[in-house]
Amino acid sequence: MTNHLFDVLHEQYTKRVNHSLAQSLVMIEPSLLKEAMEYSLLAGGKRIRPFLVYAAGSMFSCELEKLDAPAAAIEAIHTYSLIHDDLPAMDNDDLRRGLPTCHIKFNEATAILAGDALQTYAFSLISDAPMLSDSCKISMIKELAKASGIQGMCLGQQLDLQSEHHTISLEELKWIHKNKTGALIKAAILLGLFAAGDEAKQYQQDLMLFADCIGLAFQIQDDVLDVIGDKNVMGKNNGADQQLEKNTYTSLIGVEQSIQTCQHLYKQAIEALDKIPYNSEALRQLADFIITRNN
Ligand code: IPE
Ligand code: IPE
Ligand code: MG
Ligand code: MG
Ligand code: MG
Repeated sequence: MTNHLFDVLHEQYTKRVNHSLAQSLVMIEPSLLKEAMEYSLLAGGKRIRPFLVYAAGSMFSCELEKLDAPAAAIEAIHTYSLIHDDLPAMDNDDLRRGLPTCHIKFNEATAILAGDALQTYAFSLISDAPMLSDSCKISMIKELAKASGIQGMCLGQQLDLQSEHHTISLEELKWIHKNKTGALIKAAILLGLFAAGDEAKQYQQDLMLFADCIGLAFQIQDDVLDVIGDKNVMGKNNGADQQLEKNTYTSLIGVEQSIQTCQHLYKQAIEALDKIPYNSEALRQLADFIITRNN
């Protein structure tokens, strides 16, 4: 069953973030590096992190114009993480967002640099944003830097690679997932809240609980799709985790229990939203999408 509200918002937010990314890229001089950045950034992708920025900010009546820069920034960081994730030294994948991966289309060095450039580009997008106050920009930059690096995504990616070819505990895997995927999902919501201002702050704790639950559920569903998903629908290879002897939820507890864990996390996420006396329908729909998606 398709969900009308989710589809409408998803389309609106996706168009918005794509437009603001395209507009800011126009300002950059043509080069091979720019081509590689654009190739991966504009290849598609579900734009879930921008959705979270827009949905979290809108919940507290923040104007969408204030959310464009952080939404674009988090997508730039996410795309960089995917380009590097696919590199031969990491997951060695040749298909992403329905297209050859960046290092296959260009070359390895260009893909590394495109990732690096997208990372710093994200911070420029926020620091150059005309709609945001300086203090808001600093909060956003601080959060995004933290979530992307040694206290978030990079740490998770490193631990993910280190744990190949031997079995770790479910607690250890949860820690990896929390960092490699959860941290940026949490940051997306926080960026939306920062743009919305003081009113949003009092519900930060409930929203962080929501973020923790959907962040973990997102990566568990990713693990599940690696086993049961359709390559043509996902636009990326499946079976990759088993081939690399990764630890995943499915390798540790099986597909059925992984799906149940996602459902449990979904319930917890919704309970966290129930505590907030604002319209959280968009976030509810997104949580539902995360655990039912097939791409
Ligand atoms: C894939 O992320 C990598 C993970 C963190 C699991 P997405 O599933 O959001 O990828 P895109 O952006 O839609 O391509
Ligand atoms: C990647 O996790 C998480 C990132 C930080 C990019 P995966 O390695 O499982 O992502 P996919 O399955 O290749 O998209
Ligand atoms: Mg990986
Ligand atoms: Mg991968
Ligand atoms: Mg995966």
